[in-house]
Amino acid sequence: MLRIAIILGSTRPGRKGEPVARWVHDQARQRNDADYELVDIAEFDLPLLDEPMPPSQNKYSKDHTKRWAAKIASFDGFVFVTPEYNHGTSAALKNAIDYLYKEWNNKAAGFVSYGSAGGTRAVEHLRGIMAELQVADVRAHVALSLYTDFENFSAFKPQALHQKSLKAMLDQLLAWSGAMRTLRTPGETRGQASISAQENRSRTSLADQPA
Ligand SMILES: Cc1cc2nc3c(=O)[nH]c(=O)nc-3n(C[C@H](O)[C@H](O)[C@H](O)COP(=O)(O)O)c2cc1C
Repeated sequence: MLRIAIILGSTRPGRKGEPVARWVHDQARQRNDADYELVDIAEFDLPLLDEPMPPSQNKYSKDHTKRWAAKIASFDGFVFVTPEYNHGTSAALKNAIDYLYKEWNNKAAGFVSYGSAGGTRAVEHLRGIMAELQVADVRAHVALSLYTDFENFSAFKPQALHQKSLKAMLDQLLAWSGAMRTLRTPGETRGQASISAQENRSRTSLADQPA
C-alpha cells in the first residue's frame, strides 16, 4: 500500500493549519486506498538548518535530522498543507524541506493551501522547490479562502466544493506516487540506496550513445 504523509506546514500557536490538516487526514482516510499519516513538523523541533554538509551529500550528523529523515523516507507521496506568509510558504516548512534531499526524490506531492487568495502564491513557491528536489507535483490543488472557508476568519468550515477538489488532488497524487515508485530501487523506496534507478538508467543510456 502506498504511504502518504499529510504534512502540517505551520508551527504558529493557534495555527489554522491544524484543523485544515485534520480535515484532509479525515477525508483521505475514508478512501481506504493508501496509508495516510498526519505529520506535524512542529513535533520534530527542527532548528534553523544546522547540518554542516549539504543534504544532497547524505551525511546527516544531528539526531533531529536523522529522525526527520527516517520519517520522510518512509513515504511514497506527500500532501503539503501550507499557509501563505508574505506570498510564500512558511519559513518553518521551507526549513523542514531544506533539511533533506534523497528522502524527497522521485516521489509525488499535492497541495492544500489557505490564505486571503487561497494560499495560491505559497503553492507556486512550493512548486519551484519541488522541481529542485525531483518531486512530481500534481495539478489539482485545494485552495481554501480565509473569507469563505473560516467562519469569522477563525473556525474552519470548508465549503462543500472543496471535497471535490480534495478528491481530484488525492486521485492524481496516488496515481503519480505509484508511478514514481517505479523509478526508485526497492531499498531507496525507504530511503536507503545511494544511487537512484534514474541515475543508473541515464548512465546506461549515455554509455549507449554513439561516439
Ligand atoms: C507572517 C505572516 C505573513 C502573512 N502573509 C500573508 C500573505 O502574504 N497572504 C495571505 O493570504 N495571508 C497572509 N497572512 C495571513 C495568513 O494567511 C493567516 O494568518 C493564516 O492563518 C496563517 O496560517 P497559520 O494560522 O496556519 O499560521 C500572513 C500571516 C503571517 C503570520
